[in-house]
Formats: sequence, structure tokens, C-alpha cells
Amino acid sequence: MNICVIGAGYVGLTTAAVLADFGHTVCCADVNNERIDQLKRGVIPIYEPGLVELIQKNKNHLSFSSDTSKCIREAQVLLIAVGTPSLVDGRTDLTYVFSVLDNIAQVIDSYKTIITKSTVPPGTNEEMSRQLIKKGVPPHYFNIVSNPEFLREGTAISDMLQPDRIVVGLQADDGRSLAIMKEIYQQTDVPYVVTNLPGAEMIKYTSNAFLATKISFMNEISRICDRYEVNIEDVRKGIGFDPRINPLFLSTGLGYGGSCFPKDVRSLEISALDKNVTPVLLHAVQSVNQSQVEQYVTKLSSFMEDFANKKITVLGISFKPDTDDIRYSPALALIEKLSEIGCIVHTYDPKATLPKSVNGNVIQFEDMKSALNQADCVIIATEWDEFKQLDWHMVKKVIKGDIIMDARNCVDPNLVKQAGLRYIGVARP
Ligand code: UDX
Ligand code: UDX
Ligand code: ADP
Repeated sequence: MNICVIGAGYVGLTTAAVLADFGHTVCCADVNNERIDQLKRGVIPIYEPGLVELIQKNKNHLSFSSDTSKCIREAQVLLIAVGTPSLVDGRTDLTYVFSVLDNIAQVIDSYKTIITKSTVPPGTNEEMSRQLIKKGVPPHYFNIVSNPEFLREGTAISDMLQPDRIVVGLQADDGRSLAIMKEIYQQTDVPYVVTNLPGAEMIKYTSNAFLATKISFMNEISRICDRYEVNIEDVRKGIGFDPRINPLFLSTGLGYGGSCFPKDVRSLEISALDKNVTPVLLHAVQSVNQSQVEQYVTKLSSFMEDFANKKITVLGISFKPDTDDIRYSPALALIEKLSEIGCIVHTYDPKATLPKSVNGNVIQFEDMKSALNQADCVIIATEWDEFKQLDWHMVKKVIKGDIIMDARNCVDPNLVKQAGLRYIGVARP
């Protein structure tokens, strides 16, 4: 099939590379000329394990272009993978999605399947269909399909190669798109969940909101465990054996971040409010998450008398390991908070870079040892393997203080203690 992927971000690039690997001819288009120039030169603008190799492997039938119109015209299938960030009030910014529709409306001259990968609030795909018709596109020139992605950054390629399920939302009278979707994903033998357009949109939001709920729930439980001197890791293990609960996504820590959970939970809350439903639980999930960083700072204050001019090393900047993405990163929020209260923050991350907006008393180091040098305290904010495997005797030698705060419960407390350091985990007495 000839497929045009519109948007060369985290989602678009991974999707384009995997579809090319399935054997399709893929053109990945983006309005960002600099990004397209990089991709044409073989420079991959994001860090996603395996992506460079997959793009290289399929370069004969995977192209990159800033001429979106040309790519649209030549393709049978258009896949929209542009960003849908939050507006200040928490609503989803659909500007990029609608600008793609303008582009499609200008050039479409034959039947195409238009697939929405971007996460959009319930009702958006139906509105997209109405907009195309309003812009003069004959209804028999297209079908819109909502096909949300469930890719996790860091494991996006394997998630797409071996998905748990493929969700397909169809227009009421669409008799042809399901077969086309099966042709696109021909190599993936997985269950299909077929529903209407808002059904698919709701599945995506519900999935992310449910996972975020698991995390906030465990973070709240860990606050209670902490007061009762109960080890949250025992609790996690103890509940995870119940298949109704399952052991996944129960890790406590600084809270959830990234480009999906924070904005999607908020967006779903707004969609509920728009229809006069009061989403008590969704609201609570966000409240817990927003106060997690503060909890750590408060906890640290019981071990450190004064924060002013204390040198704190924060290990990790990205919102999770194996990505360079810092969108809504709790690690970054912690860095900013510590800097605000007068600490000198030294930081290190294997892939992510501090944004320019972070002010002067925060320094990012190229190597971990320099970041650790003479620190009063070390906080592990993102559970990169490099931090899990740290040589604590080395750390003891280079830092000044002795506090190791493991804000992701990712290291063995005994190893830290054996090196003569003090270990503070999340509800790990
Ligand atoms: C998420 C969904 O998992 C994915 O299906 C969807 O398509 C996009 O959003 P992603 O944001 O890449 O993927 O990462 P994920 O692994 O889900 O982690 C999200 C956040 O939750 C991270 O900040 C992570 O640190 C945090 N998290 C995750 C926890 O705090 N505890 C856990 O147990 C799991
Ligand atoms: C529960 C626990 O399941 C069990 O492990 C514990 O030891 C005692 O409490 P029980 O109260 O007997 O067992 O019934 P359960 O099947 O868990 O249902 C509890 C309530 O939840 C019922 O009112 C049931 O109708 C409701 N429920 C359950 C739902 O509304 N939806 C569901 O998906 C499942
Ligand atoms: P995600 O994480 O959802 O993939 P990103 O922000 O990383 O989101 O990527 C979205 C990409 O979509 C960006 O590279 C952006 O330049 C591109 N984009 C936005 N609007 C358009 C458009 N109208 N046509 C083509 N590409 C677009």
C-alpha cells in the first residue's frame, strides 16, 4: 500500500518506520523543514531504541518530505500523527489536526482512507468528517477511521510490532475501511476491537486514564504505608498476584508524566464536564499526581535542615527511561522546584537535555561522575538502567553528604547502605 504519514514526531516516525517494515511504501511528511532535512540526511531527531536501525533497514520504501500535499496526493491511505497538546485551560489543541484537514481538502481528488492516530477528544473524528464535507470534499472521496496508538516511548517499536489489540473506530456507513486496516496491519495477528468513531476515541482516553489512576492510587497508598512503616514493595507484590489487579503499572514514585497521561486525563475530565458529568475520580487522580513532587521535597526537608545553597544532584531529566522526551517530566518539575527553593541543582541524563527555560542555578553535566561531585544529596528521579546499576562505593567517594533519595524505588537499599550511605526510598522503611 502507498501510505502517507502526516507528522514526523514520536508517534509519526515510529509508525512510518514500522509500516515500511511491513512492506508498505511510506512517505512521512512534516511541516518542520529542518526536521525533514535531518531525516533525509539520516539524522533521527528523537531517541527511540531501534528506530535508527528500522529506518535505515527500510530506506528504499520509506521517504521523508516537507511537501505534504504531494505525499497526500500520491497515497491511498493518509495517517494523521500530528501533535494534540494541551491548551492553557486543559482542552486539547486541535489546530494541527484541523490544519492537516485543510491540506487534505485542497488536494484530494480520489478516494482515500484517512486514519487518525493523534489522540483526540470524543466527537473529534465525526467533526473532522463534517469539516471535510464543509470544505467541499465529496463524501465518497474518503472514510475517516479512528485508530488510536498505544505506543509507549522507549518500547514504541515492539509495541507496534506486537500490539495487544488494534482498535478501529468506523463511520456508520463505512463498509470498506476494516478490510483496508487489516491489509495495513497484515503482519500482526492480534485481536481487533471494532467500534464507532467516538468509541475508539473513548478507548484511548479510558486506557490512559485507567493507567494513570493505577499510578495515582499506588502513590496515595504509598503515603499511607509510609506513615505506618509498611513497605510498599511488599504491598505491590501482595496485590499484584490477583489477576483482577495484575502486577503491572503499580510503581510508586514521582508520579506520571509524558506527552500523554497528564494531558489526556485532563482532557477527558473536560469532555465529561462538557456533558454535565462530574468526574470525581479523574479529578482526584490529577490532584495526587500534581502533589507528588511536593511530597518528596517535604520528605527531604526532614533529612536536611536547610535547602539554601545545598548541592543536590538529580539523576534523570526525561519523564521515564529510554527516551529523551521531557514533556511533563516529573524529574524536571523536581529540578525546577529544588532550584526555586534555593538549591544548587546538578543533573545528568543519558539522553535528555534540560530546556532553555530552566534558570542559572541548575547545571546539566555530560557525565554522571561530574554531576555527583561534592553533592550534599543525590535524588534518582528517572529509573535509567545506568542509575540502577550505580557503584555506590564510587558515589560515596565523590559526594560530600550521604543521602540517597530513590524517588523511583529502583535501587537495592542494601547496596546503598553497604557503601555507608543513607537510603530514602518511597515507603520503604
Ligand atoms: C503511555 C501509555 O502507556 C501508552 O499506551 C500510550 O500510547 C501513550 O502514553 P508513555 O507516556 O510513553 O505511554 O509511557 P508509560 O510507560 O505509560 O509511562 C507514563 C508515565 O507513568 C511515566 O512518567 C512513568 O514514569 C509513569 N509510571 C509508569 C509510574 O509512575 N508508575 C508505573 O508503574 C508506570
Ligand atoms: C470481595 C473480594 O472480591 C474478595 O477477594 C474479598 O475477600 C471479599 O470481598 P465479594 O464481596 O464476595 O468479594 O464479591 P465480589 O465478587 O468481589 O463483588 C463485590 C461487589 O462488587 C459486588 O457488589 C459486585 O456486584 C461488585 N462488582 C464486581 C461490580 O460492580 N463490578 C465488577 O466488575 C465486579
Ligand atoms: P507526538 O508525540 O504525538 O508524535 P510530536 O509533537 O512529537 O507529537 O510530533 C508532531 C509532529 O507533527 C511535529 O513534528 C510537527 O511539526 C508535525 N506537524 C504539525 N502540524 C503539521 C501539519 N499540518 N502537517 C504536517 N506535519 C505537522
